[in-house]
Amino acid sequence: MKKDIIIDCDPGQDDAIALMLAFAALDKINILGITTVAGNVQLKMTQRNARLICEKLGVYDISVFSGCEKPLFRNLVTAEEYHGENGLNGIDIFEPKIPLQDKNAIQFIIEELKKAESESISIIGIGPLTNIAMVLLQEPHLKKKIKEIIIMGGSYFEGGNVTAAAEFNFYVDPHAVQIVIDSDIPVTIFGLDATHQARVSKKIRHEIDDLPETVATDILKVSIDYFASAYKEIYGQSEPPIHDVLTIAYLIEPGLFEGRKCNVSIETTSELTMGASVVDYWNLTNKKKNVNWIDKVNSEGFFELLLNRIATLKEN
Ligand code: RIB
Ligand code: CA
Repeated sequence: MKKDIIIDCDPGQDDAIALMLAFAALDKINILGITTVAGNVQLKMTQRNARLICEKLGVYDISVFSGCEKPLFRNLVTAEEYHGENGLNGIDIFEPKIPLQDKNAIQFIIEELKKAESESISIIGIGPLTNIAMVLLQEPHLKKKIKEIIIMGGSYFEGGNVTAAAEFNFYVDPHAVQIVIDSDIPVTIFGLDATHQARVSKKIRHEIDDLPETVATDILKVSIDYFASAYKEIYGQSEPPIHDVLTIAYLIEPGLFEGRKCNVSIETTSELTMGASVVDYWNLTNKKKNVNWIDKVNSEGFFELLLNRIATLKEN
């Protein structure tokens, strides 16, 4: 049975790869729509980039919507240093023919939930969670239509990647994360503890070079190489993670990952630790275990899945 999904994203180099893997997994998932949020770059670019990836891959039957241009309460923080000033530096950027839908992303998600069966829609959140939190705030009674929320964000044992304490998505809109993890909806989180287990090694990068030359493999190479250069410059690391992609791989082959039910809470007051995900990994507080916190990744299996599926994407 295919999973009905909505991908909420802020393309973004790794978001772009996640979208391509989703387009290569239509035997497993049914993409109801792509919603975009401000994050890696401003909303006007994340929505354009989502449409651009669709157009480059010849995906004309999936609608793209734009949502919130800033977090619920905080000022927007962006990440051009990782993704480039237009969010997808490295690939040729043009205004796609694929239109941005007039309907706002929040309204789109609400309307999909209204017509859905109970617990039938999986929401994939791979940017700041502002759009998703807005849906839950506006229409709390529609929670029962959501099967699960799968998130890329947060960190515990791996520390922060935008401040010493916080991962970027959770730092940008910590209040939105707290709303989502307090919703009683099944939530699975891929934090840096997970995504740092699947870094693009030199061996994997060479295997990507051996793939057939297509639009998709070209984008894969460029995105990874741009991300790698940013990681080298900022962290002195030569093997970058491709964070968001793990959430889509989880939809395709969940057995590649292992999680642990934990209580997770988000810092929303102290500026020192704003956005930090406090994971009660050892269940010391006996608080509600509100999150499936992914802590084991079969990296070899993940990259085998990614490369095999990306290679199936035909020319535009
Ligand atoms: O910290 C990594 C996350 O922040 C990823 O989703 C990346 O795309 C950025 O949004
Ligand atoms: Ca992202």
